[in-house]
Amino acid sequence: MANHPTLKTLRLKLRPLTVADADVLFPVFSNPETMWFFGEVHRSIDETRGLFEAFIQGEYAANSRQWTICLKAGQVIGSLSIHGVEDAIAQMGFILHADYQGYGYATEAVRSAVDYAFTDWGLHRLFLNIDPNNIPSQRIAQKLGFTLEGHLRQSFYLRGIYLDELVYGLLVSEWTPSAKEPTTDKRSSFELI
Ligand SMILES: CC(C)(COP(=O)(O)OP(=O)(O)OC[C@H]1O[C@@H](n2cnc3c(N)ncnc32)[C@H](O)[C@@H]1OP(=O)(O)O)[C@@H](O)C(=O)NCCC(=O)NCCS
Repeated sequence: MANHPTLKTLRLKLRPLTVADADVLFPVFSNPETMWFFGEVHRSIDETRGLFEAFIQGEYAANSRQWTICLKAGQVIGSLSIHGVEDAIAQMGFILHADYQGYGYATEAVRSAVDYAFTDWGLHRLFLNIDPNNIPSQRIAQKLGFTLEGHLRQSFYLRGIYLDELVYGLLVSEWTPSAKEPTTDKRSSFELI
């Protein structure tokens, strides 16, 4: 699924992820704080390259689409994925460089990917599995109209322990004009400062 489009928002450009992006995204995937709710910390760039290869040309390529999240000026700040697509149902994941968190960029990126998934790609349902302690991700899900559907107990094995996950789901029929509409983010922004 390599031929998906670049998505543009007010402040961001989401372009299809490439294996070469591993070089610039390794600092994100190797940061223990950023990875706390996301997955095992990467120990080498080769690990990040291997993950991206699996998504772009390997075992996950047939049922996933990934984007590199960039500021309009070109600075790479994170990545976003819609993966595990089966029967038009898919999971989303996203991660931002620590320096770029807290500016509303993730909400902006996820909103545009949801809109693409439902409006252009034709997906039926998107879901997010979120650690109950991951407040920013829950806020993003809530702001975009996802419904809290369940609490999975000890369903995610990470750092040697079993963690709970909240399941947030959104159906194409619920993707309303108000959820689609970006509100002006009052926080400062790397594009504006
Ligand atoms: C999740 C993540 C992408 C959010 O990025 P972000 O750009 O900071 O998100 P936004 O700026 O769009 O803000 C999201 C919301 O979380 C809130 N938030 C951010 N940090 C917070 C904190 N420490 N405590 C409480 N709320 C917080 C923001 O205020 C905002 O809510 P609001 O609009 O009601 O004010 C980022 O924190 C990250 O990369 N985390 C690590 C990876 C991860 O957890 N991925 C998701 C797995 S499901």
